[in-house]
Amino acid sequence: MENTIIWESPSNIALIKYWGKYGIQLPCNPSLSMSLKQSVSRFELTYSPIKAGEKSLIYLFEGKENPVFEKKVSKFIDSISNDLPCLNKYKLKISSSNTFPHSAGIASSASAMSALALCLCSMQEAIDEMEMPRDYFYQKASRIARLGSGSASRSLFGKYAIWGEMEGLPQSSNVFAIPFTAPVHPIFDQMQDAILMIDSSPKKVSSTVGHALMKSHPYADARFQQARTNMSELLVVLEKGDFENFTRIVENEALSLHALMMNSNPSYTLLKPNTLEAIERIRDFRSQSKLPVTFTLDAGPNIHLLYPKQYKNEVIAFINSELTELLEEGKFIQDGMGNGPQRIK
Ligand code: PMV
Repeated sequence: MENTIIWESPSNIALIKYWGKYGIQLPCNPSLSMSLKQSVSRFELTYSPIKAGEKSLIYLFEGKENPVFEKKVSKFIDSISNDLPCLNKYKLKISSSNTFPHSAGIASSASAMSALALCLCSMQEAIDEMEMPRDYFYQKASRIARLGSGSASRSLFGKYAIWGEMEGLPQSSNVFAIPFTAPVHPIFDQMQDAILMIDSSPKKVSSTVGHALMKSHPYADARFQQARTNMSELLVVLEKGDFENFTRIVENEALSLHALMMNSNPSYTLLKPNTLEAIERIRDFRSQSKLPVTFTLDAGPNIHLLYPKQYKNEVIAFINSELTELLEEGKFIQDGMGNGPQRIK
């Protein structure tokens, strides 16, 4: 007998960056992210009892075989079979798709691994015929998603999520992420994220390599301390609605991430000339218009332009008039803060 489970889970963009890990995918500093709304992965999982000699996994990405992704999914599933004992007894058919283009500077591993973790936790529930308490279910899915991709642990929750132990936040953990539940000022409650496509070609150095380079990085300790300080300040800023300090912290995090890449050994750069030109124009626009607009960067050249919803018209007009020429085929994706994963079936 076959059963099917479908989950959609969003990508997220970190405002305080996770960069450097130890042990089994544990972060060297706490991070905070905003879950996106439009940029989601959809996973459909069909499972049935496995018979001797049968292949345990069939995987399709956007309707087609994809050996590279299949290998990742298969390795991930093998790594969590102790957590979800049902995996040894069933064969899985998984098909997934993204609502956003691959390599668009949107973390597809975060949305994909969180959606898959949710499907597998729901499968375990269905087989056990026992629903886990919801908080425990999401915590478990976050812990499992983390093993696939660290940043995926934060995609289990809507709005803002925190991953990594933090002083003064006893619920926080290195093992799973938690939703940030303190009251947030209305200015940060419906943040928009225009993802500016500077260059969509696959990055030359993966995040896995970047994290590993932090192990011998001369500034590693200072970086982990900087992230902790930025994190505690950001939590106050989010509550107070202080956009000036939000800008200072978020841009400092984005540029520190890339500075760490540039002075790693060996060193590398992911930023492109147009990334820097766009940053200049964003900062000029902010100082002339006095509008609350800031940016962050993921591990890539594309820019996430962040602003409160009420300034959408002005910001889109600015992108169209001053940034389009710097973007690949003039493209940007208008996204914003989302409410987290959704079970479809
Ligand atoms: O989750 P990973 O291993 O792909 O690392 C992601 C690291 C950054 O995206 C650069 C920062 C973050 O916190 O999401």
